[in-house]
Amino acid sequence: MIAYGGALRSRSLVRVFPDPATMALGTAALIAAEARRAVKTRGRFTLALAGGATPRETYALLARPPFAALMPWENVEVFWTDERCVGPDDPRSNERMARDVLLDHVPIPPDRVHPMRCLVGGADGGDVDQAGAERAAWTCADRYDELLGSFFPTPGEPSAPGLDLVLLGLGVNGHTASLFPGSEVLLEEKRRAAAALVDAAAGSGPTAAGQDLWRITLTAAFINKAASVVFLAGGAAKAKMVKAVLEGSSDAAHLPARLIHPEGGSLRWHLDDDAAALLDAGMEGR
Ligand code: 6PG
Repeated sequence: MIAYGGALRSRSLVRVFPDPATMALGTAALIAAEARRAVKTRGRFTLALAGGATPRETYALLARPPFAALMPWENVEVFWTDERCVGPDDPRSNERMARDVLLDHVPIPPDRVHPMRCLVGGADGGDVDQAGAERAAWTCADRYDELLGSFFPTPGEPSAPGLDLVLLGLGVNGHTASLFPGSEVLLEEKRRAAAALVDAAAGSGPTAAGQDLWRITLTAAFINKAASVVFLAGGAAKAKMVKAVLEGSSDAAHLPARLIHPEGGSLRWHLDDDAAALLDAGMEGR
């Protein structure tokens, strides 16, 4: 796995929008356009949804006209980039957010929605010991890995196609999906999905719970098989990290987002003005 140095920005299409609402609009338009193109050429569109708060407005737009009518829902397969090991009704669940804002409002066939279900409590959702929680999380990751395997060939194969579009967020510590600094999962080359224990301090966003949590995540190796990857970052709090990932040279163990550079696909960064504030001038949209 190669982490890009200063070259990452030159491999990325960076678009800067004046505010979060316009960023959501630009992202919804891109998703709808890519969905239509994929369905026209390949008969289906495979999409991985990010968690966190930033994509919420994009999802809401996809559920409303004109985008809801533009999306070829019958042929869209929805996956997730990562999920907390909580129940699907838990307020911290990425699945719940996407269902509440988007999926419950559009005519997508239920069997085309593929949540990462990874509750690690006992059968009654109660406490289990650490070893039991770890086993349960990896069982869930194995199941998701297998599911992805039924759609996409093995990551090790040179021509293995991946998802059509992966939407990602960026944490202020450089994490993306549930690929956190220092995690062993960063080095994973063979799996498509893996489990990771994320400590409370590292998790970010309004859905972080203040406790260590097992999570399931797509691996960087699998994300990099995608035809298109779109990072979404907004707000001044992200500005330093956006600059470090796109223009800095720190090593990848510290900044997992730098591991994301699709092998044969496109890498886009959609930023609002505040998140892009520290980038050097001279990019599209600035
Ligand atoms: C999550 C995602 C995480 C997220 C970033 C950014 O479920 O939280 O795993 O990678 O995309 O933490 O989150 P915000 O969009 O909330 O800033």
